[in-house]
Amino acid sequence: MTSSASADATAEIDGAIQRIRAGYLPRFRAASTEQALRDENAKILGKKGELTAILSGLGKAPPESRKAIGEKVNALRQEVEVGFQTALGELRARARQVELEAPPFDLTLPARVPAGRGHRHPITAVREDVVAVFRSLGFAVFDGPDIEHEENNFSMLGFPPDHPATDMQDSFWTKGGHLLRTHTSNIQVRAMLAQKPPMAFIAPGTVYRRDDDATHSPMFHQIEAFLVDEKVTLAHLKGVLAEFAERLYGPGTPVRLRPSYFPFVEPGAEVDIGCVFCKQPDGTRAGCSLCKHTGWIEVLGCGMIHPVVFENCGIDPEKWSGFALGMGLERIAMLRYGIPSIKLLFENDPRFLAQF
Ligand code: DAH
Repeated sequence: MTSSASADATAEIDGAIQRIRAGYLPRFRAASTEQALRDENAKILGKKGELTAILSGLGKAPPESRKAIGEKVNALRQEVEVGFQTALGELRARARQVELEAPPFDLTLPARVPAGRGHRHPITAVREDVVAVFRSLGFAVFDGPDIEHEENNFSMLGFPPDHPATDMQDSFWTKGGHLLRTHTSNIQVRAMLAQKPPMAFIAPGTVYRRDDDATHSPMFHQIEAFLVDEKVTLAHLKGVLAEFAERLYGPGTPVRLRPSYFPFVEPGAEVDIGCVFCKQPDGTRAGCSLCKHTGWIEVLGCGMIHPVVFENCGIDPEKWSGFALGMGLERIAMLRYGIPSIKLLFENDPRFLAQF
């Protein structure tokens, strides 16, 4: 190799080193993604990179300058590496900044469909509606336990000891004269023992009987309402019933009382309302299978509180009088929504409940 040739080779290598040194930073800075930056870095330091090529071409340089070139290349390699790390850090910081400044969520995304919103059970809906009607008439809610002593459930209400309702076959007895209450009429006794008249209460609650078929369930719901004051008459009861029928089943819903017997009222009656299913636009009833073609549907039992009940509770029946009524909520709900079987109200099948 002539000395001028080796001087040329050395100059050429120096030139290449100079170009790399001058160019690597702008090249790194121009990379807009991490991948682009890594690619650019590989073009310099990779196996087939520019700097690597210089090292492998070192044989062309004169032996006396090889060491100096090797040192220069190594120094540049370190510089480039530092430059790469710096550029990488800057790139990541920029990306993070963009992320931080972006809106936290995408307002243009479509709304998520709500995952089946819950709603009131038909029994709850009916209970709230009935309670609302009575509250607006001045009745207050009175609560009591599901497990009751037979005295409050039966004897204080004038049931004779051998009444069929007291039978093991009809009621769920627990211990020591206690049973699952068979009706909410026990609240009459509890209220009258606890308070002096006048009083007007409504008592929604769960009740239990040994009954189980298409129209009966061993556990069901009742609402009791009663009012005690001076000179209360059947007319007051009828007025409340008329208001109840109108508010629950629509204006002009007719009400009729049929004489009936309950141990704790005298006189006692069953209450029918004009059938809600076959009601015609002119207000007449065409008759249908639900009202057994009578045009009337039974909704509750009622009557004037029996003097014996007052006496049992220490209230003077000469001074005070009152009325009481009790209804089954399942029946009210079935009538209102045309539900054919009581079972549907207890199965809690979401496909059924979603219809209300
Ligand atoms: N307790 C009766 C029952 O469970 C319903 C009832 C009838 C309640 C007449 C009353 C009433 O207050 O006066 O069948």
